[in-house]
Amino acid sequence: MSKKIYFGTNLKMYKNIHDTVSYLEDLTRLTADLNRDEIELFVIPSYTSLPDAVKISRRELVHLGAQNMCWEEQGQFTGEISPLMLKELGLDLVMIGHSERRHVFRETDYEENKKVLCSLEHGFTTLLCIGETEQEKEYSISNEILRTQLIAGFHGVSTDYAKKIWVAYEPVWAIGVNGKPASVEYANEKHGVIRKCLVELFGEEAGKLIPVLYGGSVNPGNAERLIEQPEIDGLFTGRSAWQAEAFDKLIRSALKKLGKMV
Ligand code: 13P
Repeated sequence: MSKKIYFGTNLKMYKNIHDTVSYLEDLTRLTADLNRDEIELFVIPSYTSLPDAVKISRRELVHLGAQNMCWEEQGQFTGEISPLMLKELGLDLVMIGHSERRHVFRETDYEENKKVLCSLEHGFTTLLCIGETEQEKEYSISNEILRTQLIAGFHGVSTDYAKKIWVAYEPVWAIGVNGKPASVEYANEKHGVIRKCLVELFGEEAGKLIPVLYGGSVNPGNAERLIEQPEIDGLFTGRSAWQAEAFDKLIRSALKKLGKMV
């Protein structure tokens, strides 16, 4: 069976409860006909929108995730969200180490590792985001940075958990309004580096099956070329996915490019 193609969006600190609900309703309706044996579709809303998102979502069609999580179940962690609180909501997925967490909020690889372990132990599919800064790219140490983020991020994670792991490669310089998308060749090459490292960490069989998604200024102009790269398993999209119609179109054009749409 061929691998699934992954399409997801992180709503960051955009969309209130009302807008998240109507976005999810629209996206679910528009994409309902797409074969879920072939695609995995997920949305990561803000915390305050999650309870309503959970109530209205058809989870067999659209999976839901959280943008971050504490590594402890409870305690003196003002402002943090416990894995038990996310479990109470019944979420599918937890994202760890998004670029904005690492660079705006100064999270370290060591903290991401504690979160990854905690998220996996609580049964969540765990999406670890990694990526090099512009300066690291200029210094030609991107590969070392990506490997460090993976080796540290998955430290102590047993191969038994590999099926619950997803990785997103999001070069810091490619993300957001000031970002410039990576060239498809560059993205594919870095995905190759990531795959090799995942195989080293989890073994040939498990490491090859971990989905690795590309994120960072994915848009209608580059989505088709990105998704047809052999090392890229999916697209993790911000701005270009925040209108349900636009995201639906982007997904369909990518699937068409792969010959997966009739
Ligand atoms: P953009 O697609 O807006 O660059 O955001 C990507 C991202 O950060 C997804 O997590």
